[in-house]
Amino acid sequence: MPITPVAERTWAAVTPASTYLFGVETGADAGTDVRVVQWYWGPRLPEAALAEAARFPIPRQETGFLDPRDVDELLPVDGGRRWGVPSLQAVYEGGVRSVELSYVEAVTGPGEIELVLRDEAYGLRVGLHVRCAEDTDVVERWVTVANEGAAPVRFGRLDSGSWVLPERPAHRCTGVFGAWGRETQLQRTGLPVGETTFTSRTGTTGHRANPWIMIDAGDATEESGEVWTVALAWSGSWRLTAQHRSEGDVAVTCGSGHDGPHAHLAPGERLRTPSALGLYADGGYGAASRAWHAYTRGHVLPAPDEERPVLYNSWEATGFDVSEAGQLELAARAAGLGAELFVVDDGWFGTRDRDSRGLGDWWPSPGRFPDGLTRLFDGVRALGMVPGLWVEPEMVNPDSDLYRARPDWVLHHPGRRRDTMRNQLVLNFARTDVREWAIGWLDGLVGEYHLAYLKWDMNRSFSQAGWPEAGERADMLWIEHTDGVHAVMDELRRRRPGLRIESCSGGGGRVDLAVLRRTDLVWTSDNTDARDRQTIQHGFSYLYPAGTMSAWVTDSPNPHTRRRVPLRYRFHVAMAGILGIGGNLTAWSAEELAEAAGLVAAYKAIRPVVQHGRLYRLAGTPGLTASAVQYVLDDRVVVLAYNPFTLDGRPPRRLRLAGLDPEAVYEVVTSEAATTAPVGSRWHGRTLTAHGLILPSWLPNGPDYRSELLELRRVGTP
Ligand code: DGJ
Repeated sequence: MPITPVAERTWAAVTPASTYLFGVETGADAGTDVRVVQWYWGPRLPEAALAEAARFPIPRQETGFLDPRDVDELLPVDGGRRWGVPSLQAVYEGGVRSVELSYVEAVTGPGEIELVLRDEAYGLRVGLHVRCAEDTDVVERWVTVANEGAAPVRFGRLDSGSWVLPERPAHRCTGVFGAWGRETQLQRTGLPVGETTFTSRTGTTGHRANPWIMIDAGDATEESGEVWTVALAWSGSWRLTAQHRSEGDVAVTCGSGHDGPHAHLAPGERLRTPSALGLYADGGYGAASRAWHAYTRGHVLPAPDEERPVLYNSWEATGFDVSEAGQLELAARAAGLGAELFVVDDGWFGTRDRDSRGLGDWWPSPGRFPDGLTRLFDGVRALGMVPGLWVEPEMVNPDSDLYRARPDWVLHHPGRRRDTMRNQLVLNFARTDVREWAIGWLDGLVGEYHLAYLKWDMNRSFSQAGWPEAGERADMLWIEHTDGVHAVMDELRRRRPGLRIESCSGGGGRVDLAVLRRTDLVWTSDNTDARDRQTIQHGFSYLYPAGTMSAWVTDSPNPHTRRRVPLRYRFHVAMAGILGIGGNLTAWSAEELAEAAGLVAAYKAIRPVVQHGRLYRLAGTPGLTASAVQYVLDDRVVVLAYNPFTLDGRPPRRLRLAGLDPEAVYEVVTSEAATTAPVGSRWHGRTLTAHGLILPSWLPNGPDYRSELLELRRVGTP
């Protein structure tokens, strides 16, 4: 039983390796100022120790000039003597603020608990939910609010919950920042005293940050040390604030929404926040990431056991210049390489021959495909591949039949401009008629062409985000648009269980644990330069598994950066995730095509290990120095090693592997490092982890962009 009662009004979420202890404070502050406090979050305590950890509350400051301690609450409200970051900020009728909560009851279910609180004077019911499962250290939390009063309530902040970090001599935080083409750049810095906020105001998860933070005591490494993570499962605007008080306390609160818009709850209405997820891991960033990957596979992804096919996507080859003959020519070459899925990207519909028109008109372009897409997709199938199509359901070009017919469907405020970005406006998926329209044509398209795959794109941020018909509720579009996108995806999957969906948003702008609940993979970045990708993939891997990371091999010089990178290196970088090909294959030489076919075959051989194995970030700063990643699945071990630059005169270094059985013997079964780790050579697990292998690609004085693939298998004990 993962949630267990410990003492009066005290419970513990007990996971395989951690304990999360919380309870309702029953001391002098109770009554209408009840505090639900986190007693402990860290390594798993013995059962007999649970009660003692919750025995003596830290006394609250009652006199003098010091603030009372308010940082240890699961849901600090804006109310009473609290001056920290509120997780719940309500405004009642007449502008009344200062929430006063009383304790009502605890409702328990299998693996979960709801602590029910109530602001009696205004009839706001607040449910604090905690849930955990037997096989993960991730603890899930969310909040429900129900307006049982007579007047509407507005919320300035309605977070999923606050997480308290234990006292340590120092605190350091790790997260990712980015931009279009430069997503998930890892950032690690001491947590300043103050309030550090990561946020998206774009209406999407966004490129600038990703909704998670890892905090350690400044001593964690890739392989060792305690790391606490908080992540938010949400695909719209969000805000995560790490509060480091001058007294030393640290807490992280996070939730949907951003500064400005107010959530709105009419009498009788109820709202559930997205889930906030907390993980304690001992074993460094590597262990924390592997725990997130396992959680994503075990509790988030809809079809985690499948292997993702090798994809070909036409976007970088053709742009908007899409034709049946051109696509079939690419398809023939892609099939020759071993691609299994052929995706026609933007440009196949309406008048869409440039980015300024046609979005919203989801029928095959009458000029380019007068007879529809059947012949094209039959051709794709005849080549042994399954078909996929690009869509951007949330968007419309003003120059489209849809916009001419339904200008009221876009986000807008009366009397305000409708600024376009990439010549497009955002359709309001908070509206039920827009959702019904979307599910109608998406379902029709998938059915008519027997599509196996959709790439669901979203290429602009919200602006002038109004919903005039909704009156006082207009700000709810920030939540309900995202709910609508999720609902359409869910419904589409329900109707078409065989359909697989890629989440894309101008590259990696919609990567989160909520979209991964209804999609199968994400487009990581529009930047397909292999070296830049290494940096992006490194940051991506902190939370998300390689089996969700779509990675293409494209042309050299790269169309974005003009950098020339050898084909093998480009492949090896893309083989670290879900391999796809996105280059203009009609311009590849016969030698390049032959080499690529060999690399696709090599990927297929290691695919189960990469997509479903445990990931170890072995060494280096990917993209900048010699580096390597390793995957382990059962007895199989795959290593991808890279060296983008030659550094003259550097002594050779060994690569130490990780995650192996030190007592077992491993045999090299595939090797591009024939001189130092030849096929058939055997190594003790302990030699590989404690001493390491010499890799030719890491030796000094060679050419730039060397890389190697190596596979070993456990063959038994000596
Ligand atoms: C942005 C995506 O990230 C690209 O891969 C491509 O699909 C374009 N949109 C098409 O407009």
